[in-house]
Amino acid sequence: MEENSYLGPEEIIRKKKEFLIPCVYHFYKKPMQIVRGDMQYVYDHTGKRYVDCYAGVSVVGAGHCNPDITEKTCDQLKRLQHTTSIYLTQPVVDLAEQLAGIAPGELRKSFFCASGSEANEGAVMLAQLFSNRSELLALKSGLHGRTKLGMSLTGLSFWRTDSNPVGGISFVPNPYCYRCAFGATYPNCDLKCADYIKEVIETSSSKQVAAMITETIQGNGGVIAPPPEYFKRVREILDQYGILLIADEIQCGFGRTGKMFAMEHWGITPDIMTMAKTLGNGLPIGAFITTDKIAASYTRPGASTFGGNLVSSVAALATIEFIKKHNLASNAEKLGAYLKNRLLELKDKHKTIGDVRGIGLFQGAELVKDDKQPATDDADLVLEMMKDRGVLVGKTGPGRNVITFQPPLIITESDLEEAVNALDKALSELK
Ligand SMILES: Cc1ncc(COP(=O)(O)O)c(C=O)c1O
Repeated sequence: MEENSYLGPEEIIRKKKEFLIPCVYHFYKKPMQIVRGDMQYVYDHTGKRYVDCYAGVSVVGAGHCNPDITEKTCDQLKRLQHTTSIYLTQPVVDLAEQLAGIAPGELRKSFFCASGSEANEGAVMLAQLFSNRSELLALKSGLHGRTKLGMSLTGLSFWRTDSNPVGGISFVPNPYCYRCAFGATYPNCDLKCADYIKEVIETSSSKQVAAMITETIQGNGGVIAPPPEYFKRVREILDQYGILLIADEIQCGFGRTGKMFAMEHWGITPDIMTMAKTLGNGLPIGAFITTDKIAASYTRPGASTFGGNLVSSVAALATIEFIKKHNLASNAEKLGAYLKNRLLELKDKHKTIGDVRGIGLFQGAELVKDDKQPATDDADLVLEMMKDRGVLVGKTGPGRNVITFQPPLIITESDLEEAVNALDKALSELK
């Protein structure tokens, strides 16, 4: 497209208002029109470059328009685009084999769909089928999707539009140490938040709970990474009651935290794991993976029109290959440590930063007022000022006050330096 043929932000906003349902909101008071991507950078219609530290919400882990992935995806697109799962094709079985190779423990059998919401819906249904139970547990401040059940499992009121959610779901406190629900401090708390799960099962459920679903690291909840012993304790409690653990790795999977899947940090294998986002590096794909034993309970015909789609499967195969070949998990570990240190330096300098947390290239800086209340307006200003300086970051948390970094895993130290300097300048200008 020629530069002068772009619609431009004002006209896009006008068309959005006229033709899109208003729930589809966008970031920034003065948004730009993004027209091109190249690995860790995106470019707007004026040619301005931005360091993308949000990766389309943790999606383009291997970079925008990564040439290796794009070439293979385009080849497939030209040869055969779609058949659906009633016909035999190769990429879907190759992809399932790859996932079985990289997933932790005995997770070996996959089902493919087109989004994260669908993956979570499917995972929950599988848990209910296997256990012949229906009740569920979910974490406060978790986000699991936009569908009826996904939204009902979501513990963030910001994302809960449905005023008639699915029943049989109990919420348990999330391991949010900065604002502990029990007013305790880690490690003296002895993981009260995990133990409280037992209390909820005993007092608010029929004790016939099928599964607990949890993001391994909460993304939209404000980058909540649990203390190291948390999931071990959770698993012990769930095992006592025969409750399955479903790990939603939709934001944190595929190398982002320094391991292929975040649950590996704590040596816990979930019973079912859900994936999407980085799996397709920008192409729509979702999946859930489980053990042979649990998979065996799902035998009635189950098809997803786009599940295992040839083009998405080839993109996912190429993405996994790229992540492994370039050891992006170790890049995430190394650069994540750099980013965290730099954010901690800023925390010492600016009292607006109340907390810095996260693992690998999944980091958040929580902005607060003097009384520790969420500095929501400041977060909006910071986001805008960073964008003006050519850096894109996210905004998460129940108070929408956590500046969130989830860049492509191919990002470099100098890009992150540019991003942190932009944050530093924005915070300085707040006063
Ligand atoms: C942790 C998590 N689970 C599920 C979803 C839903 O995925 P999708 O938007 O692909 O349906 C999201 C989306 O942001 C997510 O962050």
